[in-house]
Amino acid sequence: MATTARAPGAVLDRAQAVRWRESWAQVMEGFVPHLASLEDTLCRVAEAVRGRSPDRVLDLGGGPGLLAERMVRRWTDATIALMDIDPVLLALARGALLGEVRALEGDLSTPGWVDRAGGGYDLVTVVMTLHYLPPAQVRAFYDDARRCLAPGGLLIVADLMPDEGLPSLMGALNPAPDEAVAELAWAQWWSGIADLQVLRPLLAQRAAIFENRPPAEFTAPGSWHAAAAREAGFGEAGILWRCGRHAALAAVA
Ligand SMILES: C[S@@+](CC[C@H](N)C(=O)[O-])C[C@H]1O[C@@H](n2cnc3c(N)ncnc32)[C@H](O)[C@@H]1O
Repeated sequence: MATTARAPGAVLDRAQAVRWRESWAQVMEGFVPHLASLEDTLCRVAEAVRGRSPDRVLDLGGGPGLLAERMVRRWTDATIALMDIDPVLLALARGALLGEVRALEGDLSTPGWVDRAGGGYDLVTVVMTLHYLPPAQVRAFYDDARRCLAPGGLLIVADLMPDEGLPSLMGALNPAPDEAVAELAWAQWWSGIADLQVLRPLLAQRAAIFENRPPAEFTAPGSWHAAAAREAGFGEAGILWRCGRHAALAAVA
């Protein structure tokens, strides 16, 4: 695939989008220890629960589409979509993935996103995104996510979920990420991409979207998330991966 190719309607050419996504991946690894092991576990659990690879997958708050890309490479017959509120990150996803993944605009804080995404998904993932929403919206999110899933479909939520029990061995054996360093890398990434002339209109849209909605920074233990999932009608729900303060919850619709 030519690196200078541009998907129809894409703002960035592929080489630009790929470069910015690579540095985004480094920034995210600064926040989430062992992100690759989280993603690998998530995929293996999705395959184990279903007994085969999923056919329809939706990554919510999918940003520039790194997880979506890994899933499309792993499950080559699956239809993969991502949804995000941020027009700049959607432009990176569209620029790099050249139509392999459907990149949808949607706001998880309002129920309308479900109609936009459609239903019948076998797997819905949401990684490092729910902490943007306040608790009432996170509860509502579980309800909305269940409506998106096919019966027996799997929701995986990965985020900061401070441990109320024994620390995980993986967390104990690995140094906690330096969150101040990760925050600085995040700020530098955004200030770097702000210099891209071609993204100016999308950066202005992004600024308007986030102006009155700073991230809620809501964190709750895994047990809180499991209870919210069950209240929303999910059957089984439990922690499938943990490293330090980061964990992933799986819930079956
Ligand atoms: C820390 S980033 C994680 C992105 C991606 N999951 C990853 O791991 O690379 C959080 C993502 O949540 C998205 N987001 C925040 N609030 C949102 C909302 N209300 N609706 C949809 N996406 C949202 C942001 O735009 C951003 O892409």
